[in-house]
Amino acid sequence: MTHHHDRLLIIDFGSQVTQLIARRLRELNVYCEIHPYQNVTDAFLAAFGPKAVIFSGGPDSVTREGSPRPPESVYSLGVPILGICYGQQVMMQQLGGEVHGGKISGGGGTAEFGRAFVTPAGSDLSILNGWFAGGREQVWMSHGDHVAKLAPGFEVFGTSPNAPYAITADTSRNFYAVQFHPEVHHTPNGKTLYENLVKLAGFTGDWTMGAYKDDAIEKIRQQVGDKKVICGLSGGVDSSVAAVLIHEAIGDQLTCVFVDHGLMRLNEAEEVVSMFRDNYNIPLIHADESDLFLGELDGQSDPETKRKIIGKLFIDVFQKHANEIEGAEFLAQGTLYPDVIESVSFSGGPSVTIKSHHNVGGLPEKMGLKLVEPLRELFKDEVRALGRELGLPESFIGRHPFPGPGLAIRCPGEITRDKLEILRKADAVYIDQIRKHGLYDEIWQAFVAILPVRTVGVMGDGRTYDYACALRAVTSVDGMTADYYPFSHEFLGETATRIINEVEGINRVTYDITSKPPGTIEWE
Ligand code: XMP
Repeated sequence: MTHHHDRLLIIDFGSQVTQLIARRLRELNVYCEIHPYQNVTDAFLAAFGPKAVIFSGGPDSVTREGSPRPPESVYSLGVPILGICYGQQVMMQQLGGEVHGGKISGGGGTAEFGRAFVTPAGSDLSILNGWFAGGREQVWMSHGDHVAKLAPGFEVFGTSPNAPYAITADTSRNFYAVQFHPEVHHTPNGKTLYENLVKLAGFTGDWTMGAYKDDAIEKIRQQVGDKKVICGLSGGVDSSVAAVLIHEAIGDQLTCVFVDHGLMRLNEAEEVVSMFRDNYNIPLIHADESDLFLGELDGQSDPETKRKIIGKLFIDVFQKHANEIEGAEFLAQGTLYPDVIESVSFSGGPSVTIKSHHNVGGLPEKMGLKLVEPLRELFKDEVRALGRELGLPESFIGRHPFPGPGLAIRCPGEITRDKLEILRKADAVYIDQIRKHGLYDEIWQAFVAILPVRTVGVMGDGRTYDYACALRAVTSVDGMTADYYPFSHEFLGETATRIINEVEGINRVTYDITSKPPGTIEWE
């Protein structure tokens, strides 16, 4: 096997934060892959040829018979190894040390969850360059078991009150083992540790987005050959980047299907069509099915019913149009790395929010298509970087996420064409305000929801009886939790005035100050 770049192997023992290790390494321009421990055999190790190996944490106990282990041969590869939490314990166990269960105190360690402070012990350690400038480092602990006796050759380089073996190493073999999780944000200086490790392993930082792009194009060509590919385009960043990348790889063997459910924002459908069809010359089927969708949604007010109608129609419509593409053998999806890891996690992993609508879930099996997923290894911001590499406009790449069911879930209660029209205009004014004030990039997502209520107002000398709307803006890192954005009263006042003046049908504007939890970002 020949590789274009240095590779680091992460052996996954099922920690919920394993993907963050990959994340930290990619930030250092290091190419890495996560593989579940079951797949890592002697032959696999030889073929992979890692320049360094990291053992992730994990929920099991090394004291349990049959608990996960890496193959012994990993220790004779002659490359640096870093064991984290369970990874530390497994390393100690295999190399001749001892690990005890949390409640039995041996070596003074106990179960520990949360923030802790590590202070240096022993001599300097190369992977700790830049650590302990302030005397101690905050780290994140999350372990039940602990190392009670070090394996031969190991020494202690850092301790915390509850973890006498917080940082250990066998410097002659370049084996490092830590009790805490350097990959999480609660270990603020954790990145330095990874930086030192990859430097020591001789990584040159050759994993750039340009390299990724060339690799990905090559892989797509190999996978697809001269066959045809269909790609569902939603107008979102992921599917757009996937489409442009695949088009660069195989040209007109790719056809995109854009299902327009009539629930897009102002001018959005036209923008998608003109960008892909006219600008990129990508063959595109614009399935304008708004009558169908809005017809079926007519009179429906229950949020789940609305979502289900949209999801089902989407699959039907997509399938209908995709069937028109004769001889298509592949379906392209913009699946990202966190989705992949969550779905293969052997421990069950964190619960997965399956956006079946967005990701046309279930379709490949139904249609007998093979999958092309060129973004499988990337995180969201890396997809954006790839989009830039491919020349997608910045205004497009930086766009806030937009849900698959579109404006339907921003229009609580029954959906009518009138309400959608009003909502589109109000939303456009609101986003314009946010852009004008230079706040767009600080906000994870901002939108208007039109409320199923009319209120009385007075404009000029007349009485009005129009819809109320709610402005929503949140900050978030992943959409799982969110805080409302603290706009100034001046901004809110100016925006309310503009919406009421410029959008016929709205006479009252409110600001949603609910965080998530307990609220959700969308209104339905
Ligand atoms: P909630 O409202 O659950 O939203 O706090 C979290 C994030 O997910 C987006 N969202 C969706 N995206 N299909 C999608 O593709 C959906 O059905 C869907 N529902 C919510 C939402 O916009 C936010 O970014």
